[in-house]
This record gives sequence, structure tokens and C-alpha cells, in this order.
Amino acid sequence: MEVRCRAPGKIILAGEHAVVHGAAAIAASIDLYTEVHISLRPSGQEDELIELDLKDMGLNLSWPCSQLKEVLGDCSAHGSVLMSCTSEKLELLSGLVAQKNIPQENVQLNSGLYAFLFLYTSILGYKPGKTIVTSELPMGSGLGSSASFCVALSGALIALSEGFSLKIKEKKDQFSFEKNVLELVSKWAFEGERIVHGKPSGIDNTVSTFGNMIKFKKELKTTSSMTPLNSTTPLKMLITDTRVGRNTKSLVSSVSERALRHPDTMSSVFNAINSISDELALLVESPAADKAAVSEKEEKLMELMQMNQGLLQCIGVSHESIETVVRTTMKEKLVSKLTGAGGGGCVLTFVPTLLSAAVTEKVISELEKCGFRCFMVEVGGPG
Ligand code: MEV
Repeated sequence: MEVRCRAPGKIILAGEHAVVHGAAAIAASIDLYTEVHISLRPSGQEDELIELDLKDMGLNLSWPCSQLKEVLGDCSAHGSVLMSCTSEKLELLSGLVAQKNIPQENVQLNSGLYAFLFLYTSILGYKPGKTIVTSELPMGSGLGSSASFCVALSGALIALSEGFSLKIKEKKDQFSFEKNVLELVSKWAFEGERIVHGKPSGIDNTVSTFGNMIKFKKELKTTSSMTPLNSTTPLKMLITDTRVGRNTKSLVSSVSERALRHPDTMSSVFNAINSISDELALLVESPAADKAAVSEKEEKLMELMQMNQGLLQCIGVSHESIETVVRTTMKEKLVSKLTGAGGGGCVLTFVPTLLSAAVTEKVISELEKCGFRCFMVEVGGPG
């Protein structure tokens, strides 16, 4: 039996970091995907393996099922019972990955492997199988590569897990999940994200699972709310990958540490970002009947993005490379802001409807001269 499942990356239009501290954020899926293909092997043979082929990295890893069972012990083997990864289990997982001699400094890859082993064994048990992963998303650059991996993986594992065969709508060789199963996919993916990022808000796995554009708010420690937004005009973004690597977990904790040092000031910044998200949510859903109304709406959107970038700079998550993109695009009166954790990674530049192809090409060429990589994305496709 085999299943192929894909999940999109994301951009955050407003509210990253502040969302971890309870502010609202606006995120949307983009038309770049991670695909996970799992083929189960028959059980009861000798040399049963759980294999993982990370195609884009040319990395092929495997663990004997018997070894995993011996180290990790009994597991639920039916994905309907959601589990969190305890610190003891994380230690066992890191021991299993350490045997593969992956460089320690590649934190994202190592933690992605812990998440893989955790999700696979918790949802499917020790069933032998091969998982192949391919992705169109640059890794660790703010476009939600780890969330799209965790969502596509959880989706494929849940589709293969026995308890779920009745809850999947099948059409020819395609299937889609019913809403309650989608919610479970997102919850399992969140558990994977916690392994990779420490204390994520849950926005990345939510938008990757449900797609489109959402307003997201973490209510209390464990609950969150998600409101789908219907953008009345199509939004096009130029994404610039600065190619500066960074680590979401440490950026999120640096903001939390700053919040502990300056509680009142940081809380005012988070409130201001919350207002930007609230205003942006209303703006994207507001009707724009003619060209003048569309231009006015786009001007407002750019102002909100610009204010958000200023506030992200002031909480310490911008970077020289991000500021270079902001300055370069500003020469053509365009507005850019970082997306995701910042500290490098990817930057969004809003592309107004009336922007000429010549100006777009000029901006891209200037950015590429700085060593950056640019690509256009459509915002808000399916999850
Ligand atoms: C990462 O894509 C967004 C952050 O706000 C972290 C999170 O919300 O989990 C930086």
C-alpha cells in the first residue's frame, strides 16, 4: 500500500514573533510544496526497515524496526491518540539519529529526523516502509519548510493508519480528508513542529494544513483560533531568499528574552503588531470595485507591511541582508518585510497590480546582484 501527500509552504503577512506572545497574525499558503510518498512493505519478513529518502539532499537513512521497538518501546500504533514527545523520548530519538553521523551543526536536519521518527512510530507503529521526501521550499528560510514536511508526513501516515480508512473521501486515486481528520493532521504536525522549533505558535502547521489565508491567534498556552480570510483581490508577492541561514528556535527565544528584559515596552510592540494584523484582516476582505479602490487598498497594505517591518526590526529579528532588500526595493517605491523568523531567510515584497514588468525585472536584477535568489508566488492556494 502506498500514499502520496503534499502540503504547501507559507508566508506571514503580519504578526510573526508577536503571535508567540498572543498577538494575532495573518498567514497564507504559497504555491510551493513538500511531497511525502510512503510505501509500506509487508510485515513479518526478516530485515524489516523504516527507511527515509531525503531526495533533495541525496540522503538515504534506515533503521531496523526491531531496533526502534527495542529503544522506543511500545507505542500506540493508531494515530487517533495524539501524543506529545517527552524529553526522555527526545533523548532516545537523538541517540537513534546520532548513529547516522549527521553533522551536529545542522540543527534543522537533525531535529527534522527526530520529528520523522516520532511521527512515524507514534502514528503507524513499527510497520516497515519507505518514505521519500521532495520539496520545492528552501529549507530553514522562513517559508515553513518544516511545517509543510510535518503536515505532509502526518497526512500520509494518517491515511495509511488503519483506524482512518473510513474517514477519508476517496475519488479515483485521489483522496481528501474530512475536516475533523484535517484537524488531527494539523495537531500531529504541531507535535512534530515542537520537536523542530521548541515553542512554536502553531501558525505554520495550521496554514499548511488548511491553506488559503488565515488570521491566527494563540489564545492560551495550548489553544488557538483560526479564522479563514477571503481576500477580495489576488495578492502577488516577490520572495527574496537572502540565503542567510538562521535558526527559528533561537530567534524565538531571543525575542522572549528581550520581552523578559523589557516587559512593558515589548508588550506595547506586540499590541501594535496585533493592531496591524487586525487592520490587515479587515483590509484584505474589503471590496475594491474599481482600479482606484484597488490602488488605495494596496497603498494601505504596503503601509501596514512597512510598519510591521519597522517593529520587527525593533524587536531585534531583522538582519543586514533583510535591510538590503528593504532599501533596494524602496528605490522603486516598493515595500518589503521579512517573513517567518527573520535573522536572514526570506523577505516579501508586495507586487502592486499596476507595477510594470520592466520595474519588476529591474528590482529582481538589483537583488540578484547582491547574491539573493528571487521568485514570484501566488498567495493563498489550497492546503
Ligand atoms: C515562524 O514561521 C513564525 C514565528 O512567529 C514562530 C511561530 O509562530 O511559531 C517566528
